[in-house]
Amino acid sequence: MHYKTETMDSIAVQVIPAQTTHPRRLILKLLHIDSAITGQNSVTRALTAQIVAAWQAAHPHTEVEYLDLAANAPAHFTMDAMCPRTGQTDGLTAAQVAENAVSEQLVRQFLSADVVVIGAPFYNFGIPSQLKAWIDRIAQPGRTFRYTANGPEGLAKGKKVIVASARGGVYSTSPQGQAMEHQESYLQTVLGFFGITDVEFVRAEGVAMGDDAKAQALQQAQAALQRVVAASAT
Ligand SMILES: Cc1cc2nc3c(=O)[nH]c(=O)nc-3n(C[C@H](O)[C@H](O)[C@H](O)COP(=O)(O)O)c2cc1C
Repeated sequence: MHYKTETMDSIAVQVIPAQTTHPRRLILKLLHIDSAITGQNSVTRALTAQIVAAWQAAHPHTEVEYLDLAANAPAHFTMDAMCPRTGQTDGLTAAQVAENAVSEQLVRQFLSADVVVIGAPFYNFGIPSQLKAWIDRIAQPGRTFRYTANGPEGLAKGKKVIVASARGGVYSTSPQGQAMEHQESYLQTVLGFFGITDVEFVRAEGVAMGDDAKAQALQQAQAALQRVVAASAT
């Protein structure tokens, strides 16, 4: 594949065309993302580690890149970071150049992955702001989506995404709970907007509802992740 190199003021930007299909190749690229702020106690961090280990066992030719958004999140989205959306390339300030470089690195890393494993804790009815900040950086017209006469089109097709979801309460089993849930539903929407239809959720739900409930939730999530990875190997 030939990548085009364009110059955006002082920084050279390698523009990787959005992939619609993946060529047959031996090495799979897996992007492992954590966003939990809870360190050693994090349920999603434990689950993403297990998902990645199971994936590597099932697909030994997998190259893993790791992104810890709690340790190293992009800054909140600002006007300085808007160039990929406005198309401005001339007369950029130093702040705009710096923000573009951050966004470019993140979108390139995302586009080059075949598989993305995302640790997505349920915080205050949604996702951690660190994970949202990452999404704001990779949501770029011409890279992950575009608008057409027929409406928006996702440009990041062909990837598999596995989301490790952990929730203190239980939201999946009632319409009231589902209406309050803006974590999995949001990720499904935004990933779908990027053209990604193969999204699996490995969910540990009710982890703040007592030791027994937590143990059961973890057991169910572990069974689910084994199922998801086993299905990917067939
Ligand atoms: C800042 C914060 C906000 C939270 N908000 C909610 C919430 O709105 N609803 C809920 O059911 N649990 C909530 N929880 C509980 C988490 O969903 C639960 O602890 C889960 O395990 C988080 O994933 P983690 O362990 O990977 O951090 C919250 C936890 C934290 C730390």
